[in-house]
Amino acid sequence: MDIFRIDGPVKLDGVINVSGSKNAALPIMASALLARGNSIIKDVPKLADIAVLEMLLSSLGAKVHRDQNDDIHIDATTIDNPVGEYDIVRKMRASICILGPLVARCGRAEVSMPGGCAIGDRPVDIHLRGLTELGANIHLENGNIVATAPNGLTGKSIFLGGPFGSTVLGTANILMASTLAKGTTVIESAACEPEITDLANFLNKMGARITGMGSPRLTIEGVDQLKPVEHRVIGDRIEAGTFMVAAAITAGKLEIKNCSLNDMVAVVDRLEKIGVRIDPTEDGCIVTRSGRLIPADVTTQTYPGFPTDLQAQLMALLALADGNSIITEKIFPDRFMHVAEMNRMAANIRKEGPIAIVAGVDRFVAAPIMASDLRASAALVLAAMAAHGRTTISRVYHIDRGYEKIEEKLNAVGAKIIRESV
Ligand code: EPZ
Repeated sequence: MDIFRIDGPVKLDGVINVSGSKNAALPIMASALLARGNSIIKDVPKLADIAVLEMLLSSLGAKVHRDQNDDIHIDATTIDNPVGEYDIVRKMRASICILGPLVARCGRAEVSMPGGCAIGDRPVDIHLRGLTELGANIHLENGNIVATAPNGLTGKSIFLGGPFGSTVLGTANILMASTLAKGTTVIESAACEPEITDLANFLNKMGARITGMGSPRLTIEGVDQLKPVEHRVIGDRIEAGTFMVAAAITAGKLEIKNCSLNDMVAVVDRLEKIGVRIDPTEDGCIVTRSGRLIPADVTTQTYPGFPTDLQAQLMALLALADGNSIITEKIFPDRFMHVAEMNRMAANIRKEGPIAIVAGVDRFVAAPIMASDLRASAALVLAAMAAHGRTTISRVYHIDRGYEKIEEKLNAVGAKIIRESV
């Protein structure tokens, strides 16, 4: 198992290239199942989660490989085993995104019910409600979701809102399934995330007829078949936001490339409120912070609100602000595994249910800490770069799930991170 040894404090300075978006690539790779032929997806980051989906797609009968340019080829000509095995699915909740395309393509799908994870329960009731509305029969068998639609799917107006608002992968599943349904589907309370827009653009390239991208209402005219295409995924806005905080927390200066500030308005709003300077550039931004950090309140919401995937990273920054900040987590109310670890580094954060009260302190002090989930782990790296002394972070495999070569990227701009196998 790998650990990080991180010396601080450091001041980052340089240029960082953001990788392609994991959360765009995953549903786009799954939607390649909808076409009989070879789709090519570019700029897919080399991450543990992507590798799990490659394995899963192969287990269904697809031929999946990366070429010499690192582009992913998915040949879904033959899908002869529409069953997502538990021992693969349990490795990544997002595996659920094969359900919609499999039911639409094969008329049948079996996918292990994803379990919970460190950030909370990961129910899929809205996914199943949506597929049922499209005419699929759904039942549970030995922990597997079994969905059948022997006569195909039929378009319908479907409300996909839940207690926490829209669902990203739920929208993806219903969007993918409805492209081959008979007639028109309208998805109300659809997720508006840029990753869903990127998925819809990929599907439209394949011959789907989707309108309303970026809005809570998606309209899909069903078609008879889709064709394989090439596509480059968008930059990863969550990785970009993580590096923006890295510049701010080390009082450094970073140029961040391959990200769109248009997709990060809420993030820019909070960072500027905290005293971070963000100057737009042609393909990203330059982030600097020189003065004190100003406390700010933040509530995570569905897009275009502040993303829950950057909540832990912003908390690390606010932990050093001149005063108290309130963080309200409205998407995953239990997503605070990082609080105890930051407090081990002399932060002063108190959790009250879905709220964290962050009382700013002068500095983080290095300590041995443990990663718990993907984004919390990235936040601990940020804290460790600002901390005084050498921090050891264990279980960094969590970081490898969502950040490509994070220590290489950060060391290239002044961080002091050593990865060791223990
Ligand atoms: C996607 O997960 C992302 N993952 C998550 O990023 C992200 O945190 C999340 O969206 C929210 O933005 C991928 O895209 C691969 P949801 P998803 O369905 O789609 C509840 C990361 O770090 N809900 O939008 O699984 C759910 O419990 C990961 O890259 C239901 O109640 O999340 C949550 O409270 C972590 N019923 C809320 O909705 C359902 O059927 C939003 O979840 C589905 C969801």
